[in-house]
Amino acid sequence: MTEGLVVLGGLGADAHSVGLSILRRALTEAGYRVDFLGIQNSLREFFEVAGGADVVMLSCMDGHARTYLAEFADLRTEFADIDTLWYIGGNLSVNDADRLLAELAPQGFSRVFPGYVDIPTVLSVLVEDLFVRPRKQAVIPVRRPELKTRPLPVPVDDRMSLADFRRIRREVLDTWRTGAGAADLEGNAKFLIRQPSFAQAQLSAGRVLLQPRSGVALVADQLELFKVLRDAGGDVLSYQIDSLTRSNAYDIAEQSIAESRSLCESVLNGFPMVNHGVEPLRRIISHVRTPLQTRHSTRDPRLLAEISCAGGVTGYEGGAICYNIPYFKDYPLAESLARWQYVDRLAGLYSDQFGVIIDREFFGTLTAVLIPPCLAITVTVIETLLAVGQGVRSVSLGCAEQGNRAQDIAAIRVLREFATRTLVNLGYHNVRVNTVFHQYMAAFPQDTRRAGELIVASATTAGLSGATRMLTKTPVEATRIPSAADNREGVTLSRFGLEMAQRTTVDEAAVAREERVLRLEVEQLLESVFVAGGGSLTVGVVNSFHKGLLDIPFAPSLENRGDVVTARDPSGAVRFLSVGNLQFSDEVREFHRSAMADRRRRSEWATVQHDVLQIQAGEYERWPLDG
Ligand code: 5AD
Repeated sequence: MTEGLVVLGGLGADAHSVGLSILRRALTEAGYRVDFLGIQNSLREFFEVAGGADVVMLSCMDGHARTYLAEFADLRTEFADIDTLWYIGGNLSVNDADRLLAELAPQGFSRVFPGYVDIPTVLSVLVEDLFVRPRKQAVIPVRRPELKTRPLPVPVDDRMSLADFRRIRREVLDTWRTGAGAADLEGNAKFLIRQPSFAQAQLSAGRVLLQPRSGVALVADQLELFKVLRDAGGDVLSYQIDSLTRSNAYDIAEQSIAESRSLCESVLNGFPMVNHGVEPLRRIISHVRTPLQTRHSTRDPRLLAEISCAGGVTGYEGGAICYNIPYFKDYPLAESLARWQYVDRLAGLYSDQFGVIIDREFFGTLTAVLIPPCLAITVTVIETLLAVGQGVRSVSLGCAEQGNRAQDIAAIRVLREFATRTLVNLGYHNVRVNTVFHQYMAAFPQDTRRAGELIVASATTAGLSGATRMLTKTPVEATRIPSAADNREGVTLSRFGLEMAQRTTVDEAAVAREERVLRLEVEQLLESVFVAGGGSLTVGVVNSFHKGLLDIPFAPSLENRGDVVTARDPSGAVRFLSVGNLQFSDEVREFHRSAMADRRRRSEWATVQHDVLQIQAGEYERWPLDG
């Protein structure tokens, strides 16, 4: 007899998968049988498998739980014979977690865990709740997860023909009423050319640019936020797009905008750019006069790209890999490759035809958790090649700090070096390469003082790395979407950290050691992708993920093998515990084996779990970890 059957999964469009995979392991180790649904399940999908469960655990981290739970009462009626305990946890609401909490118990939730909860607490609550209930002896159906979406042919590498682009463009602009407002490319370009340029700001910076994030539901509030952040020292600013837009649910976003208006506060976790459309964006940049970028992870990014560019936004983040594998369970690479080709072609057209440079950024942060820099670099270099093939002229390659200063500095330097060298080798001489340093992107310290210290030291690392730009965090990262004041504090701390870089020496020998192994790794990974494509990079990407030649830790995607296991070595650098099917030489494998020798004494999973939870719990001496 086991402790019981737990159905566990993410609800709605939310992309967070790391906590779920940790919880899954912890439950299994505690003796429960776990029916793991992964992320992006509808409420109905939970009900369909809830019959045999003792407990159903829903996770939702994007603040839109109320939307995803709308049919809970109806489904309880429809599935009246289901007798199970319902738990929900995460960042449940953007604006009124307390009120939502009060609503959920009467609806039938036995436990609601708002915000962060540690695993021992979950386990003890389970024991308590199940103590008096006879356990069901249900057999878990063996499900083999597979992509439900029909696989498409992989798009060819060639530059998309203008005829194809125009044909697709009509469909794209037709998908929502605001699309028509972006149709006039030439008119858009005339507006764009007069706006502060993201690419230009990066070209002429001379120091690490500071970029805070922001996104709220209403135009006037967004404008206000931008002004505050600009005055606080944000060199460039970004629209953070809400989760509903990211899943192309413009109709639901529309309701949330109306609700935000009537409540006079944002119920969205970002800015619903597609619903607002071109004119409000133009108004905003005309008042802010600061280079702007759109940051998102939208499933179909094409209409958003059209509106973003037409609205005067000269930076656009995302790519076929980085905005697929870490964010979606069921999204074929062949499809994301085709859609991002369109976005890159659009950016290319603006520069070819009208001389307007749209900077394209690639999110090497990936799942943010224990990502070895070689994976970030390989993915962003591939996305760079895909983009320049469509005519893109300015690229920004991002990489998230992991916490070992020597490794993080080496990552930014090798990133720049590799992207630049590869472009030149392939005959692209007119592309500007920028590097983006993300302050620590995995679960942040709960303690705001420690979070603040991390931000300062992180900025120092960024300064020492020579990155073009830095995405800043705030001391409240662990608890909420930052307010303008929180963001101002993040920028101030980061500026201080950058100043400290002037007075800090780098252990250049340690950096050189990291650079050396990193170059080997990236060369080997890239070569395996080129070979797997037999001359086509797009085919190489698809084949590589299917064969595990590229493999991203903690990714929710069914396209990703998930055989790679990573953790920190004793100095905090991220290494491979298992390289899966990554095509590394014996030398590289041996490097990781010996770096991790001391850490192999515990079970692999215990080591990983420790490293994932360590920083948020504050269980480290100082930041950076090798400091
Ligand atoms: N406003 C400000 N910051 C945001 N982030 C996500 N959405 C918003 C928003 N609407 C930040 C998170 C995290 C990063 C991924 O983006 O706090 O740091």
